[in-house]
Amino acid sequence: MAIYNVITIGDDILRERAATVRRFDHRLHHMLDDMAETMYEFDGVGLAAPQIGVSKRIVVIDVGDGLCELINPQIVEKSGNVLGLEGCLSVPDKQGYVYRAQRVLVQAQNRFGEPIEFEAENYFARACQHEIDHLNGVLYVDKLAHPTEREIAEIEEEE
Ligand code: CO
Repeated sequence: MAIYNVITIGDDILRERAATVRRFDHRLHHMLDDMAETMYEFDGVGLAAPQIGVSKRIVVIDVGDGLCELINPQIVEKSGNVLGLEGCLSVPDKQGYVYRAQRVLVQAQNRFGEPIEFEAENYFARACQHEIDHLNGVLYVDKLAHPTEREIAEIEEEE
């Protein structure tokens, strides 16, 4: 196992469209293990392969309910629109408000290339959207909302 360096905003690799994964071999498994270790080491709730310098469609997420590995993930349905606070290991020491779908249906593959499909809501849905954006060269800072004090207070009440 190894901890990767996390690439920060300003590096072009974070702005590329990442390539589809076609080989589900031990190298992929090794990388997934190291990505999870890196995410936990830096107290992230998600990490996408471009953030460690690999332009491939691979993400790991753990919002506190266990590790989720997604290869070639896609959002196939979404509904709702909610404001929430986000941060990113590639944008150190900052946070910002972003509107995201409240619920998403995700299709992906697991580490063996088998198809998976699941529904995510709320914070997990937010993490899926944030990480999948990374695979398309999009960072949360591109989508910043500028809520009023009142809107921020409403979010805090819901939490
Ligand atoms: Co991020």
